[in-house]
Amino acid sequence: MRRILVTGGAGFIGSNFVRYQLERYPDVHIVVFDKLTYAGNRANLVDLDSSRYTFVLGDIADRPALETALDGCDALVNFAADTHVDRSIMGASEFIATNVTGVYTIAECVRALGIPRAVLVSTDEVYGSIDAGAFRETDPVAPRNPYAASKASGDLMALAHHATFGTPLIITRGSNTYGPYQHPEKVLPLFVTNALEGKPLPLYRGGEHNVRDWLHVRDHGAAIDCVLRKGTPGEIYNIAAGNERENLELTRKILELTGKDESLIQPVPDRPGHDRRYAVDASKLRSLGWVPEVPWDDGIAATVAWYCEHETWWRPLKSGEFVEYYRRQYRVQP
Ligand code: NAD
Ligand code: TYD
Repeated sequence: MRRILVTGGAGFIGSNFVRYQLERYPDVHIVVFDKLTYAGNRANLVDLDSSRYTFVLGDIADRPALETALDGCDALVNFAADTHVDRSIMGASEFIATNVTGVYTIAECVRALGIPRAVLVSTDEVYGSIDAGAFRETDPVAPRNPYAASKASGDLMALAHHATFGTPLIITRGSNTYGPYQHPEKVLPLFVTNALEGKPLPLYRGGEHNVRDWLHVRDHGAAIDCVLRKGTPGEIYNIAAGNERENLELTRKILELTGKDESLIQPVPDRPGHDRRYAVDASKLRSLGWVPEVPWDDGIAATVAWYCEHETWWRPLKSGEFVEYYRRQYRVQP
């Protein structure tokens, strides 16, 4: 596998995946294809050897542009998506355009060009909330917010494309991911950077109700790489490392690591349709040989340290459009 098209490669998980590929495989050339929405950022790729990757500005729902970029590639990995639940609650048309129409366009291009395999990165949120136990790949989807519904729709289209045409598409469903280069709209970088700025941490419903299972971005990238090389087309693979934390516990950890006290915690009204707990069983993926390698205590400490050391990266992302978004979402200035 020498030339890989990474759609959405300028975002959080995509850029970390590109870094992982270039570090691990000396003969791989990556083509990053990205629309550079507010969440896409060329700065996520600046430390990489520019002779080892090509950047193409484009929309995955634009078939001619995608076909041109994909021509001559051995594989495609799709990270391109609109990804923030709270923004999807404000309006979901972009989510449908990228996460459904875009995924359909990818399937059509992969089929038309005879690309040997494509991995479509999806999320554990498609299964909906679960009070106890963990979802398996055979469980039905039951999304409960517009973002999750758009991702589930993309997954269903991909599975149907495989069943109908034999298109070699593989789906991954990862859990909540953390690490460097995550946009500060998401809870972990938002809370770390707010804490560093001495600003309140807006915790939905006080944080004692909701649980997420945290996966380090490097482990997520390694899992996608494992599926890319060993996965079976038409199959789904869950990804999780078993680091369940209540949001309040996560928040306290962030405050401890940034040296701030709990007076910064600001309980705010709940997100509508807020899923209580996500949990997936990753034993199918583990049977391919993947094991998570980043222990939670090390991963969270290193991640908080990274945001502390990279204010020049996150500061610009908390200005401009973000100020308006923050005011609408939290009814206060960021
Ligand atoms: P992100 O929001 O950080 O990045 C998304 C990237 O996609 C950006 O670079 C953006 O510019 C690009 N993009 C958006 N629309 C596009 C379009 N139409 N055409 C081309 N590029 C476009 O997202 P992320 O957190 O890195 O998530 C990547 C993937 O992983 C998504 O599919 C998401 O659903 C999935 N996922 C994320 C998490 C998480 O916790 N972040 C967990 C599980 C799964
Ligand atoms: P988020 O990072 O948006 O990921 P997801 O909704 O995809 O799981 O949120 C993670 C958890 O943190 C979720 O339970 C909602 C909560 N949260 C807050 O309490 N306050 C916030 O400002 C944000 C963005 C999230």
